[in-house]
Amino acid sequence: MSISAPKERTMRAKFALVCMLCQSEFAPALTYRCPECQGALEPRYDVSAMVRHDHADPEQVYFDLLPLTSRDFLDSGVTVRTPCRPAPRLGEAISVPGLWIKDESQQPTRTTKDRLASLVTAVLRQFGVKEFVGSSTGNSSTALARAVRMDPTMRARFFCGREFVDNHDIPQDNRTTLSVVDGSYVDASVEARRYAAEEGVHFDAGFFNWARREGLKLAYLEAFDAMDRTPDLVVQAISSGMGVLAAHKGAQEYLAMGELSRMPSFLMVQEESCSPSARGWQEGRTELAEADRIETPRGLATAILLGDASPYYPYLHSIAIATGGAIVSAAREDLLTARRLLSDLEDVDVCYASAAAIAAVRDRAATGQISPDQTVLVNLTGRSRMIDGL
Ligand SMILES: Cc1ncc(COP(=O)(O)O)c(C=O)c1O
Ligand SMILES: [Zn+2]
Repeated sequence: MSISAPKERTMRAKFALVCMLCQSEFAPALTYRCPECQGALEPRYDVSAMVRHDHADPEQVYFDLLPLTSRDFLDSGVTVRTPCRPAPRLGEAISVPGLWIKDESQQPTRTTKDRLASLVTAVLRQFGVKEFVGSSTGNSSTALARAVRMDPTMRARFFCGREFVDNHDIPQDNRTTLSVVDGSYVDASVEARRYAAEEGVHFDAGFFNWARREGLKLAYLEAFDAMDRTPDLVVQAISSGMGVLAAHKGAQEYLAMGELSRMPSFLMVQEESCSPSARGWQEGRTELAEADRIETPRGLATAILLGDASPYYPYLHSIAIATGGAIVSAAREDLLTARRLLSDLEDVDVCYASAAAIAAVRDRAATGQISPDQTVLVNLTGRSRMIDGL
C-alpha cells in the first residue's frame, strides 16, 4: 500500500474526500470509508490558498486546512495552543541534544484528544448531525463528551470496557452517557457499533473518522510553526495510530506549501506488553494476522492498550516505509524511567503513553539509530487525569 501526496487542487468546493488507497475522489459527505474499496478517506484542499489567521482558537488559525465550509461550525475554547520547545536537559541526558517536545498535556481534558473533539463536533454540526455513539480507551471519549456539552443541542453515548472506566471523565445525564461493557476496548467498539446500527444513531468511526484526524493534525501544524527547522524525526505513542496519520498528512501539506524542507521520518511507539503493530513491523509484515490479536491487553500505558490493530496497521506500515520510520515498543521499566526523567529534567508530568515515546527515543539514541545531530520532535500526547504518583 502506498499513500500518495496531496496534489494541488482546482475546485470550487473547499475540499474533496479522497480515498487513501485507490485515490477515488468524492464530494464532501459524512462518509468515512471509500465506497469503492473501503479505504480510509481524507479531506484534500487547495494548499496554495492557505493563510494562517491570527486567533486564540487553533481551529480558527488553521481554518483554511480544515474540512469546514464555515467558521461558525466551530465552538470556541474546545482546545488551546500548546507549547512546543527544545528540551535541552532531557536531550542531553539521552544523547539527543536536538530534542523538542510538544506538550499536549496542557489541553483542557489533559490530552491531545481535545483536538479531535473540536473537529468531530464541528463536522457533525456541518452535516446537521446532533447525536452520535463512540468508544475509546478513555481520553477521546472524555474529550468528546466535554465538546458535546459545550453545545446544548448535541448528545452522545460512549462505550468502554470495564477495566477502562477510570480513564473516563464523563458526566452522566441525558446529554452524555457512558455504557460499560464486560471486555476490552475492542469489545466496547463492537458494542458501540451494534448499538448505533440498532438505534439508527450516527457512529463515530474512530481512526477512520477523517474529522478526528484533521483535528489531531493541528498539534503538528503548531509544532512545525514553533520550530526553527524541519524535524528529522517525529515521534508519537500509538494505539490505532490516527495521530500519526494526522501528523503525516500535516507534514505532507506543509511540505507542499514549502513550510517544511523535507518529509520527516515517523517513529510510532507502543508499550511492549501490548504491541501487535511493533511486532508486525519487526517481522516485516504488511498486514497483521488473527494471531497478533491480544485478547486482554495489560500495561502501564492504559491510553494505548488496543489489542487489535489490524484495520489500522497497513496505513502505519505504509507511513513507516515511505518516511524511513519504524514502529517500535518500549518496556515497562523504560516507561517508568522516561516519565521520571521528563518530570525531573523538564518539569513535565505526562502519562505513560507519552513516556513511551520518550523511552523509544532514548533507546534508539543508545543503540545509534538516532544520531546526536538529528532534530527530534516528540508529541507528549497527554497526562493522566488520575492521581498516580511518579
Ligand atoms: C495520551 C494518548 N496518547 C496517544 C494515543 C494514541 O492514539 P492513536 O494512536 O489512536 O492516535 C492515545 C489514544 O487514546 C492517547 O490517549
Ligand atoms: Zn478506495
